[in-house]
Amino acid sequence: MSTYTTEDLRKVTTHRLAEMKQRGEKISMLTAYDYTMATILDSAGIDVLLVGDSASNVMAGNITTLPMTLDQMIYHGASVMKGVKRALVIVDMPFGTYQGNSTLALASAIRIMKETGADGLKLEGGEEIIESVTRILSAGIPVMGHLGLTPQSINKFGTYNVRAKEKEEASKLLADAQLLEKAGCFGIVLEKIPAVLGTEVTKSLKIPVIGIGAGNGVDGQVLVVHDMLGMTNKTFSPRFLRRYADLNSIMTNAFQQYSKDVKSGNFPNESEQY
Ligand code: KIV
Repeated sequence: MSTYTTEDLRKVTTHRLAEMKQRGEKISMLTAYDYTMATILDSAGIDVLLVGDSASNVMAGNITTLPMTLDQMIYHGASVMKGVKRALVIVDMPFGTYQGNSTLALASAIRIMKETGADGLKLEGGEEIIESVTRILSAGIPVMGHLGLTPQSINKFGTYNVRAKEKEEASKLLADAQLLEKAGCFGIVLEKIPAVLGTEVTKSLKIPVIGIGAGNGVDGQVLVVHDMLGMTNKTFSPRFLRRYADLNSIMTNAFQQYSKDVKSGNFPNESEQY
């Protein structure tokens, strides 16, 4: 018997995402980095799993996403793929594997696709990386763009504040989005931009736009799974983050109870031993 909580068990494809946009059906997307979480997310009916380079923060404990390597992304991507039957799985290309060198970009992209079995890749940036995007697309690899706050450029931005509030940056973002669509990207993530701009970009494109802090006028939403489950530090509280659980408290209580039981000799009891 299937444990799936969604009725539509057909594999999600990039074509189905385009149809969803046409029908006005919103797309749900969350990050995933490991097999067990991927099985739960997939069974719950999440449409798209993003093996995000936010693994650098939530799995590896780094401050930025920059240290993530190709081998590490491949490890996370392959682990997630083993747990998925329905969701579309997209892997982030890590910093340094596609910027400024389209030959390296294609070689990195092919490695990720071959060694993980993922359905597509996500790259941060617009016009400045279009040569890499085009080259990867020409190999038949589906590509998702990522504009607005692009964490791999944090050293250029200097802060994680809202992007494209000024007209000039907003116009460049819109032009970049249109360029990515024209190049053949199947979708775009917009991160931390004004909701009005999110809606404008979404209306101007045929491909789906997924937002994280880009308002409600986009075609779908993505969050970092550890954040929405309330596992990460509560001091990280951007306005766009809705916490759907307080797993930090639940896990802390369980760990404390376990420790207490071990120390008191209460665990294991007679039925828990051979
Ligand atoms: O790496 C990531 O988790 C992301 C999302 C924030 C969109 O790129």
